[in-house]
Amino acid sequence: MSYQAHFKVWRGDADGGGLRDFTVEVNEGEVVLDIIHRLQATQTPDLAVRWNCKAGKCGSCSAEINGRPRLLCMTRMSVFEQSETITVTPMRAFPVVRDLVTDVSFNYAKAREIPAFVPPADLKPGEYRMSQEDVGRSQEFRKCIECFLCQDTCHVVRDFEENKPAFAGPRFLMRIAELDMHPLDAADETGLDRKRAAQEEHGLGYCNITKCCTEVCPEGIKITDNALIPLKERAVDRKYDPLVWLGNKIKRRGQ
Ligand code: SF4
Ligand code: SF4
Ligand code: FES
Repeated sequence: MSYQAHFKVWRGDADGGGLRDFTVEVNEGEVVLDIIHRLQATQTPDLAVRWNCKAGKCGSCSAEINGRPRLLCMTRMSVFEQSETITVTPMRAFPVVRDLVTDVSFNYAKAREIPAFVPPADLKPGEYRMSQEDVGRSQEFRKCIECFLCQDTCHVVRDFEENKPAFAGPRFLMRIAELDMHPLDAADETGLDRKRAAQEEHGLGYCNITKCCTEVCPEGIKITDNALIPLKERAVDRKYDPLVWLGNKIKRRGQ
C-alpha cells in the first residue's frame, strides 16, 4: 500500500537556507531514510545526507524529525499519520555543512580530551580479572554508536553555543563515568583524578539531570541514571568527604 506524503526538508549550507516542500511516495515498511533516498532519486539529486549502514549501527544518519533528534534509518514512516507533514532538519547543535549533513567534529575534539583507560601496573594482559557485574556495567555504555543525538538534544549546548568549550556533553561524561567505575583503571595511581576532571574540565556541574539525552538514545542506554548521576554522586563524595575517597581507594586496591 503506497501513499503520497508531504515533507518539509531543510536545504542550505553554512550561509543559510530554509525548509523546502516535497510530495513523495511512501511504501509499506519504509523508514524516513528511504524517503530521503527517493527524493534524491526522483526530485532533488543533490540533497546531502550522511548514512552508511541503514541498520541503526553506524550512527551516521542522525538528524531531527519534527524537531526531535532521531536516526533517519530507524524511524519508521508508520509512526506518523499519513496526512501529517513531516519535517526533516539537520542536528541543531552542530554547524551545518550542507542540507542534512552537520559538522560533528566538536564531538571528536571532546573525545580526544578524555584520557584513555590506564592499565594496572602490576598486572599483565591476560591477568585482568573482573566480576560479571562490573563487565555488565561498562557493556551498557559500550553499546554507544556515537550518533551524537544525546549531544544534540542536551540543552546545555543546544541552546547555549558558548557552553561548548566547557561542557563535554552526555556521551563523553558517560565515557568518563565508564572509566571511573572500571575496577582496573589505575588513573589515580598516575595522579589523574577522573572525578575532579569531570567537574572542573568537562562541565559535569552543567548537567541538571533532565534525562533528555537518555530519551533520544537509540541504543536505550540509561545515560543519566547509570552514568551521570553515579558520577555526580562520586564527584561529590570526592570533593566533600576525603575519608570516603580514601576508603574507596583502599577498597579498590584490595580487590
Ligand atoms: S541529563 Fe544532563 S547531559 Fe543529559 S540532556 Fe539533561 S542536562 Fe544534558
Ligand atoms: S549515548 Fe546513545 S545517543 Fe549518545 S552518542 Fe551514544 S548511542 Fe548516540
Ligand atoms: S545509516 Fe547507520 S545508523 Fe542510520
